[in-house]
Order: sequence, then C-alpha cells, then structure tokens
Amino acid sequence: MGAYAAAFERSISDPTRFWGLAARDIRWLVPPDRVLDDGAPPFYRWFTGGELNTCDNALDRHVEEGRGDQPALVYDSPVTGTVRTFTYRELTDLVARFAGALRAQGVDRGDRVVVYLPMIPEAVIAMLACARIGAVHSVVFGGFAAPELAARIDHARPKAVVSASCGIEGSRLVAYKPLLDEALELASHKVDRCIVRQRPQLHADLVRPRDVDWDEAVAAARPAGCVPVAATDPLYILYTSGTTGRPKGVVRDNGGHAVALRWSMANLFGVGPGDVFWAASDVGWVVGHSYIVYAPLLTGCTTVLYEGKPTGTPDAGAFWRVAARHRVKVLFTAPTAIRAIKKEDPGGRLLAGYDLSALDTLFLAGERLDPDTYHWAERMLGRPVVDHWWQTETGWPMVCNPRGLEPLPVRPGSPSVPVPGYDVRVLRPDGAPAGPGEEGDLVVRLPLPPGTLPTLWQDDARFVESYLTRFPGHYLSGDGGRIDEDGYVWVMGRTDDVVNVAGHRLSTGVMEEVIAAHPAVAECAVIGVRDALKGQVPRGLVVLKSGVAAAPETVCAELVAMVRERVGPVAALREVTVVAALPKTRSGKILRAAMRGIADGRDVPVPSTIEDPAVLEGLRPVLRGSDPAADPGAGSGPAPGAGAGSGQ
Ligand code: COA
Ligand code: AMP
Repeated sequence: MGAYAAAFERSISDPTRFWGLAARDIRWLVPPDRVLDDGAPPFYRWFTGGELNTCDNALDRHVEEGRGDQPALVYDSPVTGTVRTFTYRELTDLVARFAGALRAQGVDRGDRVVVYLPMIPEAVIAMLACARIGAVHSVVFGGFAAPELAARIDHARPKAVVSASCGIEGSRLVAYKPLLDEALELASHKVDRCIVRQRPQLHADLVRPRDVDWDEAVAAARPAGCVPVAATDPLYILYTSGTTGRPKGVVRDNGGHAVALRWSMANLFGVGPGDVFWAASDVGWVVGHSYIVYAPLLTGCTTVLYEGKPTGTPDAGAFWRVAARHRVKVLFTAPTAIRAIKKEDPGGRLLAGYDLSALDTLFLAGERLDPDTYHWAERMLGRPVVDHWWQTETGWPMVCNPRGLEPLPVRPGSPSVPVPGYDVRVLRPDGAPAGPGEEGDLVVRLPLPPGTLPTLWQDDARFVESYLTRFPGHYLSGDGGRIDEDGYVWVMGRTDDVVNVAGHRLSTGVMEEVIAAHPAVAECAVIGVRDALKGQVPRGLVVLKSGVAAAPETVCAELVAMVRERVGPVAALREVTVVAALPKTRSGKILRAAMRGIADGRDVPVPSTIEDPAVLEGLRPVLRGSDPAADPGAGSGPAPGAGAGSGQ
C-alpha cells in the first residue's frame, strides 16, 4: 500500500490516533483530554479539554525556537511600489502591540472584531492580534458594498472594526472609510471603536471619539501576551454565500484548525519550516485565512502577501516576478488568475526573464480547473500543477493530490483523491451510494476532520439544516460530482444557487433581492453562466411589469448599477436581459436548477412539473452564455420574446 492509501486508511479507521499524532506538532498550553469528542452527533468537536493560543503557535513559538530572524511575512505591493520584509521577531512585536491596542479599546476574549482591510500587513497583524487575546475576527472582503458589510456587522456584533483609509485596485483607489461609515450607519448594531489605518494614498476623516488612528492606538499601547484559549473556542467567523441572501457565518475553532493546517502544509503542499509559500488570493477569502496567514506561519514558513493583480500591475509577468524575487517554493492561486495571464501572454514571453528555479509546484483551487488552463500552466512552468477542491466551510483541502505524502498521477480535470480525514462519497438523490463514475451529490461521511466548521455562528439549527439534514450522517458539500473506478473525484459544480465568479463565491439570491426591489421588475432570476476568463459570471433575467414606460435598456443598466452599489463590484453582474417569461413549475416556482443545468452545458431533462416547456427551450441560447470561447457549442441568440435590452 502506498503512503497515501495507508494514511487515508488510518485516518478513517482510527481518526483519534491519526489526529492525536498530528496534534504533536502544535504547542499546547494544556494538552487535550480527548482527540475526538463524538458524544453529541451530528456535532463533533476536536481536542476537547485542550488549551493553546493560535498566535503563539504562529509567531512566538518560532522566535523561541530560533526563527526570530527568519522572514515571516513579505509584503509585495506593485500598486504602491513597496516590498517589505518582517522577520518572525518583528511580526511578533507588531502583533503584540496591536493586540495591546485592541485591548486598550475594550476588546477582550470572545469579543468579535470585524476586519475590513485591503491586502496590507495590517490585515495579517490585526487577525493575529485577535487570536493573541482570544478575540474572534471576522474579515470582510473589500469588494463588498456597504450593505453587505452592514449585514455582517449586524450578525457578528463586533466590539470594534479595524479598517483602512483605502484599498488600491490596480490603478483605482477604493475609499474604504466612506463605505465603512455608510455600513455603520445602516447597521443596527452599534460599534464602539473603529481603528483606522491611514494610508499615504488617501486620508480618511475620522469620527472621534469612535474612530481611532492605528498609529496613535499602537503608540499608546502596551504589548499583550498570548492568552490561553480552549481548543474549541472560536478563532474566527468567515461569512460565505449560501443559497439565500443571508450569508452564512462559518465558525473556525482554534485547536482543530491549527492541527489540520499544520498537517496539510507538510502532507499536501510538501512544504516545511523555512520554505517560502505564496497564496495569491485575498485575506477576505478562506484561501487567504488559511494559506496566506495561518498555515504558513504555523509551519514556520515565509508567507508572501501580494497587493496586486495577476495582470495590469504592471503586466502579466507580475506573478513570475514575485515568485522569482522571493524564491517562492509553492504558489497557490485560482485558475482564473492563470487564465487572465494566459489571455495576455499566451506564449509565456513574460516568463522568460525570471529565475523560477525555487518553484516546486503550482496549486490551483477555488473553482473548476479546466484542462486547457491546466495544460498551459504545466507547459509554461514545467512544474507539477495541482488542482484541489475545498470550501470556506472545510477551511482546507478535501480532495487533493497529496504531494507531500506521495505524489500521485494527475488526471487533468480531477482534483485527484480524498484527503486523509475526508471520507468523500457520492450519493444518489435517495441517499444510496452512487456507483463508480455515476454522478450525484458530493458528500463527506461524518465526522469531518479537524479544522472544518463545527457550526455556523450562533446558528446550530441552520448548520444542521444546510449541511447535515439532506443525507443524515453526511456533510452536504453543495457540489455535484462523481468518483471514478480508481478513486479520483470529479467535481461538476454547485447544485445550489451559489455562483463562482473569478474564484469568488457569491449568492445569486442576494442579487435577486436587489433586482426584485426595482419598481419596474415583476420577477427575476440570477444564474451563473459560463465565462472563458472568470469561470462563471452572473446573468440576470427579468420580466418587466406590464405598462413600464422606461426602455428595457434603461432598466437593465439601472439594475446593473444597483447590484454594484448594494452587493459590491465583486458581484460582477454586467448583463441583465429582459425576457418575456421565466420557466416555472405549475405551482409557480422558478426553475433555476433547470436553467443552471443548461447554463453549465449539461443535458438537463425538462422537469415533469414544468408549466410551459417552450419558455425553458427558448431561453437556451441566453443561458449558454454569450462567450463563444467559453462554450463553443452554445448559441447566443436573443432571449425569447426579448426584443429587449441588455445591461451593457
Ligand atoms: N476591493 C474593492 N474592489 C474589488 C476588490 C477589492 N478587494 N476585489 C475586486 N474588486 C472589484 C474589481 O476592481 C472589479 O471592479 P470593476 O468592475 O470596477 O473593474 C470588480 O470588483 C470585479 O473584480 P474581479 O471579478 O476580480 O475582476 P477583475 O476584472 O478586476 O479581475 C481577475 C479579474 C481574474 C484578474 C481577478 O478576478 C483575479 O485575480 N482573480 C483571482 C481570484 C482569487 O484570488 N480568488 C480567491 C480564491 S483562491
Ligand atoms: P469557497 O467557499 O469560496 O472556497 O468556494 C467553494 C466552492 O468553490 C466549492 O463548493 C466549489 O463549487 C468551488 N471549488 C473550489 N475548488 C474547486 C475545484 N478545485 N474544482 C471545482 N470546484 C471548486
């Protein structure tokens, strides 16, 4: 039996022993009484009775063990022309000081802190400072608009918000502070303190005494030490899109998270202490939490924080420049980023000048890796390209080619095999196991391994209902897929109303809520359609109320603007089409799943409950997307009864 098969078998047959051994890589202040607490299914807890501090494991411990002078964090920002390195000792000091500043502002163990920051070192410092004093951070991605930030503030009920005067999107300055002020205005929860990092590119007006300048707060603070927390205490809440407009607050604990991430670095990514790891993502997403901040630092690696884009900052050679300059061993990004580079530099001309001899592997996740992109990246880099499948909920890979354990043969289009700890299965609609190669719901048999979500923030009922009810005893991933006869998993995409736009997970429900609020709209649906660059883009289909005087083009343009304003630019809803009707069941339910199936290019049987099959048939060209490169087989004619406008 190979190393992978043996590890997988051990992890499933004796998870207590398997994860108990892995836990030895973490510094415990009080060792756990139990590795797996399975006394209250379907809730499972890891390392109960144990106490630790995640920040201690990510920083202090490495300084004490002799890594004080090693770079911990390299901030590379082409948009500001800055490259700055922080050693483990320096980063520990900065985090301890900011932890003291938080405490001085009244933040204590268990309090929530919303972090709304661009990709600057202060984001990493703020997250680790929360961990240091046992506060719970909730990072909100900068591309969301004020109402989305307000919704998260109202749900997490933070004591403080940490933000900055601006973010920099390519050459565009995004003023964060007015967005934050608007969100605080909209939120019903009152936030006591906002600590604001003034960036030289834009000065923010502070509302005293609520707002405090970062530098002043730090200058006045006494460094804070690491507070012991229970392994099962929350480290963070990360909101992610669900089927409804209401985001889900995924909770991450301290103990299981530290153990799982540390294990993943050695066994999946094949990196160890001293190696340079670069996840080109954003701290606002789970990839940023796990693989920019926590996993590399828990492992004693050097992590790269990149404030820039794959293209345009200044060109499609940006990733290769950063990888070469910092001697990156593992680069992790989303397939979209590689597609963007490929589009601008198909022949890899910009790669030529860079020394990538330190680069070992390119890891890609966040959306489906299409074989074309896979082959292109592998050809250009001459290095293994590894697809892996996971989600905000799991916090680390569920299916991956375990490079550290045992590199397995690659099958382009498949992220390879279930990761030890994840008993991945495919189920038929009736809950029976699907046969080899048969498509169904991708699920994981409980218990999930350490590091995965123990629940949703203050909503056990929604946790059970969303993930554990459809197939009792299993976690429902929300993705469809199949497992072939050799155990390789093939992920086919979401089975719910979640879209994946440029590796960003978004809810179509939230966009529908905004569109439905327009006075001219009778009904609407937003679904994901294929896109050659972003994987998917949302597409709005609206039926106008009769007697609407405004031109359809005008209404569509207004709808596009409304979604940008209320959900955020990241929603990237660029196209809204007026149609005569939406396909429905006889009881009036809009057939989104059928439309999605067509949009994904699947041969979807027309549901027997459909009211008028001609409506669905007529929508086929719109649903297949207008991007011929994305789906050469699809038509791109107008929507039925369209006569109609399109948003842009
Ligand atoms: N703050 C403010 N605005 C943001 C933002 C942020 N943090 N992130 C994105 N936006 C804005 C963008 O500026 C863009 O605005 P625009 O409509 O005015 O151009 C909009 O949101 C859509 O952004 P995006 O979907 O990212 O498209 P893009 O055209 O700017 O860039 C890519 C396309 C492929 C280069 C980019 O999406 C990318 O790098 N993707 C990788 C994704 C990734 O790392 N995902 C994390 C999971 S691993
Ligand atoms: P997020 O929670 O933002 O990480 O998004 C998770 C979703 O992204 C998953 O449910 C999948 O639909 C999709 N996804 C992530 N990684 C992959 C992958 N390697 N292949 C296919 N889909 C993926």
